Amino acid sequence: MVVGKHRPTIETVDLEAISWNIQQIRKGLSPGKKFFAVVKADAYGLGAVPVAKKAKEAGVDGFCVALLDEAMELRENGLSDDFIMVVGPTEAEDAALIADNGISVAVTAAEWLEAALPYLQERKTELPVRVHLAIDTGMGRIGLRTVEEVQAFEARIAELDGFVFEGIFTHFATADGEDPTLVERQLTLFEEILQAMAQRPPIVHLANSAISLWHEAFRTDAVRVGIAMYGYNPSDTVLELPYELKPSVQLDTQISYVKQMHEGDTIAYGARYRAFEGEWIATLPIGYADGWRRDLRHQTVIVDGQRCPIRGVICMDQCMISLPKEYPVGTKVTLLGENGGLVNNPSEMAVTIDTIGYELLTGINARVPRVYK
Ligand SMILES: Cc1ncc(COP(=O)(O)O)c(C=O)c1O
Repeated sequence: MVVGKHRPTIETVDLEAISWNIQQIRKGLSPGKKFFAVVKADAYGLGAVPVAKKAKEAGVDGFCVALLDEAMELRENGLSDDFIMVVGPTEAEDAALIADNGISVAVTAAEWLEAALPYLQERKTELPVRVHLAIDTGMGRIGLRTVEEVQAFEARIAELDGFVFEGIFTHFATADGEDPTLVERQLTLFEEILQAMAQRPPIVHLANSAISLWHEAFRTDAVRVGIAMYGYNPSDTVLELPYELKPSVQLDTQISYVKQMHEGDTIAYGARYRAFEGEWIATLPIGYADGWRRDLRHQTVIVDGQRCPIRGVICMDQCMISLPKEYPVGTKVTLLGENGGLVNNPSEMAVTIDTIGYELLTGINARVPRVYK
């Protein structure tokens, strides 16, 4: 994808804020607990390599990604010895690549191990595949679900060469909500499974941001923190953050065109907005093909410390806003982040369009150049 370097739409990522958030979250964890920074999906759209390097400097103990290719990107860009776990599915035929690169993977069944065996012959090293058994305690996504299945897996992996049973983990469905019922049920099932194992693997982990922020007490060896590290509330507007986090993303552009309208003049496709007499309308060089989604059209952006409503539908590469008065071409406009004391927080904006801050952040794509602060 072409990066739009020649237009003034820029995403600024505050790496210091990420570092500060890591320290804040760390203070809330019990001593000795490992902090795995979740940098999947290009660090939620903020750039996996720079974020991971900064997170390492801030003292994290490893990284979680979703794809084997995301793990390889880190390995190939200076994170050569760090713990990296792929929390999503991987292909058994990639077992040699996984082993040779010392990558830990989520495994959901003994069949994966059996299927990986022939591919392990192709290893260039003697390194084993580091296995983290996924347990589905209520998320309904991946993993074994019963004590019997886990015991059978444990027996089988002990018989096979080429694997090390490094960890076991689960993931929560409602940790960001007000009702703790499912969280408690998931914890109980996970604990029952751990108790029934012949040996607890060295790295037991379950906590995403929401668990780390609001339910840290459970005894585990590591947390997997994503959104909170980037400075956003995983619960959007439902639960309050227990301590301050600093948002790390600023999305700014500049006015590219300004005009004054007559009563009834229309704006954008479908002519859905009709201007009032004398209304100042500015055009912004950002649209849905940049990840500035069409359904954000009822939101406001910030100009000179004032909220300005988007007018009409958002086009592919541009959108229009209403100004309180004339502002010149080149005036800074903030879409996400702070401007003159006002803030557009993606977690809060997301609620109004029935999504989550994660989707807004990951949606801003490579067309928007990213700079680091
Ligand atoms: C398995 C797993 N662990 C941890 C995380 C991090 O979640 P959060 O960003 O809410 O901390 C995710 C993200 O979706 C995940 O899929």
